[in-house]
Amino acid sequence: MTETPLGTVVAIDDRTVLVTGQELDVAHEQPDVGHALVHRAGDVLVLVDTGVTEAFRAALKGAVDRVGPWSRLLLLTTHGHTDHVGNNDLVDELAAERGVPAEHWAPARDLEQMRDPVSYWEHAFAGISGVAPLPAPPALSARKVVSLFQPMHPFGATTRAYEERPLERLSLGSVRMTGWSFADGAVRVLRSQGHTAGHVVVHLRDSALVHLGDEANGGCGAMPDADQLKLHSVLGAVATAVGEGAVTTVTQAHDATVRRGPDAVAHLDEMLDQAVALQQAALEVTDAREPVDPKRFVDDITARLAEIGGGGPNPNPVFTGMMSVNLLAAIGLHPARGEGDRAWSRPEQENPAPVAGMPHGLALLPAAAAMAGWKLRGRDR
Ligand SMILES: [Fe+2]
Repeated sequence: MTETPLGTVVAIDDRTVLVTGQELDVAHEQPDVGHALVHRAGDVLVLVDTGVTEAFRAALKGAVDRVGPWSRLLLLTTHGHTDHVGNNDLVDELAAERGVPAEHWAPARDLEQMRDPVSYWEHAFAGISGVAPLPAPPALSARKVVSLFQPMHPFGATTRAYEERPLERLSLGSVRMTGWSFADGAVRVLRSQGHTAGHVVVHLRDSALVHLGDEANGGCGAMPDADQLKLHSVLGAVATAVGEGAVTTVTQAHDATVRRGPDAVAHLDEMLDQAVALQQAALEVTDAREPVDPKRFVDDITARLAEIGGGGPNPNPVFTGMMSVNLLAAIGLHPARGEGDRAWSRPEQENPAPVAGMPHGLALLPAAAAMAGWKLRGRDR
């Protein structure tokens, strides 16, 4: 549950604050809003995400002078979800008002969903149609949900992809990672790609802080483009860095608690424990019950989630359904005919048939035609 009203400014240190968002409440037409971080590195004001809604924009704008004087603006997007990118043009507004330069960087792999969030969410909802209670067909549900996130300005005048910069090898304590540095190395973006295909986490050197964004939403990623192993990897990497003292403070996008030292390590370990417990629960509830009815699986996992925790910042049947489908895949099950609402089972372990190699006899004729076409189209170059 959100502990704080939208727009609460949580002080972290004399150069950093967290501006809190809010939870999703579709019944009351309320979008969720990810928390945003405001930090000053030298003369650079660093914003990590911009949430969505006019109210959050106003709150963020009111917080930019809480971290000391600055004369440049740097906006870093953790990932492309609508609850994090709606006010990305705020840096242009601030730059024009203050007469200072601004930059905005976002992950290349999330740009498509920033351009077309409805298709992204339609695909996500299609993956659970017939499995979890979806109030309307995927396309209609996607439009309804995305319509809550207004105004939506994910692109500003200077938006570029991180991937346009040369990739750097970066260390977080003893953990070796890759990403990009900004503000003379005071701000570093580390690739994590767990929660979404492009997700990054942000390391603020002068605050010894890592902002996990939505990588800390729980032990099991719900989105179709989530990568469970990358999620676990970044949680483990940050836990190691905190354990070593290279990082002292950890923040995240849907929990306003600022965690330090051992509390942060315990929190990260708890999410890794959730990941293991959820996968164990998936094995237990499917044991000797193949083929698995995905609806019944969702019911079983919903019950187990209540004990294990890790249901995410917006626990509801739709997200639990998405997480359940990801769990079925994570334990190696496949849906019949590739359709998620059909029975899931383990594919037969069949050795491949012997392969004949180059054709001979009559089979030479279509092979020769295929070769001629291949060469004519210049594909053999
Ligand atoms: Fe989020």
